[in-house]
Amino acid sequence: MKALRLYAPVPLNNREAVRTTILPTGGGPDGSSPMLVRKGELVVFSQYVNSRMKSIYGPDADDFRPERWETGELADIGWAYFPFNGGPRQCLGEDFALMEVYYTTVRLLQTFPVIRLPDGEGVEPVGMERQRLTLVLSSPDGCSVSTAQGDTHIPQ
Ligand code: HEM
Repeated sequence: MKALRLYAPVPLNNREAVRTTILPTGGGPDGSSPMLVRKGELVVFSQYVNSRMKSIYGPDADDFRPERWETGELADIGWAYFPFNGGPRQCLGEDFALMEVYYTTVRLLQTFPVIRLPDGEGVEPVGMERQRLTLVLSSPDGCSVSTAQGDTHIPQ
C-alpha cells in the first residue's frame, strides 16, 4: 500500500472536459487560484508527481517511511493519494489487487525469511533510479535479491 505512493503503477492519467468548467485550484502563479478548463480540453494529472510533493508529504516525501500513515500527519491530504484513482471510473480491481499484494508479500516472507541486497548491489536514492514509463511504471533493471537459498535476479 505504502509503496504505491512512491511507485504508483499507473503514474499518469487524464480526462477530457465534457463541458466548460472551473476547477477550484490549479490556476495562478502558485497554483492556488481557480482554473478555467474549456470544453474539449485535456486535463492531465499525475499520481506519481502528486505523491512525491513535499508540500503535501513533508520534507522527507522521498523517504519510504510507512509510519507516516499511522501518525495522523496525513489525515487531511484529501485527494493527494489516489493510486487507483477515484470516482465513477475508479479501478475495479483495487480490492483484488491489494489482496494479491498482501498475500504475495506474506508468502514471500514465509518462504524467504531473509531477503537482502546481493553484495555489491547499490541503493539508488528515490528519484535517481532508472524507471520505465509505458502505460504503467516499472524498473527496467529488474530486481536483484539475495536469500538464504542464494542470489537471484527478477527481470522487469
Ligand atoms: C496495483 C495494481 C493496480 C493499480 C495501481 C490499478 C490502477 C488503476 C487505475 C489508476 C485505473 C484508471 C482509473 C481511472 O482512470 O479513473 C484503473 C482502471 C481499471 N482497473 Fe486497475 N489497477 C490495478 C490492478 C487491477 C486489477 C488486478 C484489476 C482486475 C482484476 C484491475 C481492473 C481495472 C479495470 C477494469 C479498470 C477500468 C475501470 C473503468 O474504466 O471503469 N485493476 N486501475
